[in-house]
Amino acid sequence: MDKLPQTPETYDRMFANGGYGGAFQLPYRHSWYYPMYKGVYKAVKAAGARHVLEVGCGTGGFAHLLFEQGDIDYCGFDFSPEAVSQARARTSREDSFFVGDATVAGSYARDYDTIVCTEVLEHIEADRTAISLWKAGTTCVCSVPNFDSTVHVRFFRHEDEVRERYGDLIDITGIARIRKPWLPDISLRNRLRHLVWNRYQPRRLLYLLGMTSFDKGGWFVFTGTRR
Ligand SMILES: C[S@@+](CC[C@H](N)C(=O)[O-])C[C@H]1O[C@@H](n2cnc3c(N)ncnc32)[C@H](O)[C@@H]1O
Repeated sequence: MDKLPQTPETYDRMFANGGYGGAFQLPYRHSWYYPMYKGVYKAVKAAGARHVLEVGCGTGGFAHLLFEQGDIDYCGFDFSPEAVSQARARTSREDSFFVGDATVAGSYARDYDTIVCTEVLEHIEADRTAISLWKAGTTCVCSVPNFDSTVHVRFFRHEDEVRERYGDLIDITGIARIRKPWLPDISLRNRLRHLVWNRYQPRRLLYLLGMTSFDKGGWFVFTGTRR
């Protein structure tokens, strides 16, 4: 698979177009990332997080969910200025986002007890350097995919591979599997439209009803404490 360069410009262009199927510009509840965001939020709540720092916040989908749920302090950064600008516009929270690089120590110079990092580590060649900059004792809630893409430098086939790559940096206490929906836009309207279009395609109908297997696309959401 041809790969794109891991530069802010690559992501600026991707976010200006909304990403695959426009998923990054959809209301977070309509995006195929929603099941993953919900899993991450559940883990963040269970850990008793009070101050979240999100690494690679993208266009602010998870941040929006967190703000709507209530009482956890949040700040997020991304090295794509376009992502940060869209995150600010989505949430109307100018001060909650900044442009920063995950592999630079200065990006972490603030108070936080929890790091959220979803669908980012697989985009960074020096992912382990980034994690090494996270404060010891911090709760970490991260996700990585089990599928390849033009912007992935790696992906993971099994929980063991996640533990192997990150287990010495993060004391991983749990890994959940979350299936990726078949459509980038999971709004009811879009699902109904696809059900009609695919009414003579039994396999597609099963996918639309959520009967896909994890192996066809999914995320490992892992939780732990930075060693
Ligand atoms: C697939 S998107 C995920 C966005 C968001 N975390 C989410 O789950 O919706 C990957 C993100 O990682 C960001 N990213 C990649 N390398 C980065 C780096 N070195 N520092 C900060 N952000 C980075 C990209 O700009 C992009 O927003």
